[in-house]
Amino acid sequence: MKILLGVCGGIAAYKSAELTRELRRRGATVQVIMTANAERFVTPLTFAALSGQQVMTSLWQPVNSDVATDEAHGFDIEHIRVTQDADLLVIAPATANFIATMAHGFSDDLLSSVCLAAKMPIIIAPAMNSNMWSHPATQSNLVTLRQRNVHIVAPGSGELACGMVGDGRMAEPMQIADHVFELGQRTSDLAGETILITAGGTREPIDAVRYVGNRSSGKMGFALAESALARGAKVILISASTAIPVPVGCDHLRVTTASELEQQVLTQLDRASMVIMAAAVSDYRVVSPATRKLKKQASLTLELTQTPDILRQVVQARAAGTLVVGFAAETENILEEGRRKLREKGVDMIVANDVSGSDTGFESDDNAGVILWEGGEVRLHRASKRSMAGRILDHLHGVRKESVTPGTDVPLARSPSSLDPIFSG
Ligand code: PMT
Repeated sequence: MKILLGVCGGIAAYKSAELTRELRRRGATVQVIMTANAERFVTPLTFAALSGQQVMTSLWQPVNSDVATDEAHGFDIEHIRVTQDADLLVIAPATANFIATMAHGFSDDLLSSVCLAAKMPIIIAPAMNSNMWSHPATQSNLVTLRQRNVHIVAPGSGELACGMVGDGRMAEPMQIADHVFELGQRTSDLAGETILITAGGTREPIDAVRYVGNRSSGKMGFALAESALARGAKVILISASTAIPVPVGCDHLRVTTASELEQQVLTQLDRASMVIMAAAVSDYRVVSPATRKLKKQASLTLELTQTPDILRQVVQARAAGTLVVGFAAETENILEEGRRKLREKGVDMIVANDVSGSDTGFESDDNAGVILWEGGEVRLHRASKRSMAGRILDHLHGVRKESVTPGTDVPLARSPSSLDPIFSG
């Protein structure tokens, strides 16, 4: 893959040096283009050494004299030529200013001119202060870019260069590289699908300030949403108690309790051709939550009652052809418990993940598990949640391809042949 990597002026520019290395490690050719401000953070020499190519920095840089005037092809204009050679344009970090430049179509330096001339897919990895990220102007520019099919690798949360803590940290180089290769390899295979995804953990009130909840961060569900968007699907994302940035371009609904989640899922179900329940839904709620803050006392007894099983209701209420995937969060007997949930909930697939450790499952950036369906299973070794999301969507896409006969109702395939070898044992 030939990749153009645009680097803008932000402290995260140093991470793009690592990105360059990672892209090359995975076999890509990388041509780096730096803005003038980027050169204030990292020197072109660093990128030249890591990419093995001269770095492009200016519209007025002299062009290789052998190709500058070619009678057959006309005058060689560097910022046009590079876009014709490349498969993908990645901008990392993309600053608030550069995002605005792209959204408004300015071309006042080399990188912005390349963006305007580019016909290939574009990925941006924003990085900025959290107030700049959440500003309506930035958010509206991002929506504009998304509408133009620019792929956005959402920033993470954490400590920022300005000392604030919040959203706006550029995604990690490995994560950006995952996006790049995912996009390079499969373009719009999920176009036409509307995928309803749940994420995060529901909270059931005890009183006005306390709740029964769980450790779900929403990372797994959000990774599924980002991956589905990148592959051309429409995404309805319903999230419960998450604090990470929402993927740009999805229809997003926020809920708190299991009962709110149930209501939203059932309302949106008609629009969905696939449903993936990655949310960690509270199995119990407090029967009579107090409306005020309860006074501290030596002991407190709560009466809990079961919440409705949303997944089961989805299976019963879905239209023909709607594929339904559940997750199973397990600490032991993962395969057996996953199979039991597959059977009892009547879903097309279960992704059973081990939530006993701290490296995978709840809150972590990585996950591991096994995809189970009626005819088989495939192990998902530890990988980033984004990469695992890609595998899950591959399997769903495989089921869809095998089950659709044009002009007929969609019967559900049970053992898609495109799946990976079964892990037996
Ligand atoms: O959010 P992260 O920090 O990234 O962590 C990801 C995760 C560990 C939360 C995720 O990968 C995961 O396992 N999600 C499902 C958690 C869960 O609720 O598992 P369960 O085995 O208790 O439930 C089985 C399935 O039934 C799930 O799809 C769940 O969404 C659904 N369910 C559960 C209870 C209920 N009342 N209604 C439901 O629909």
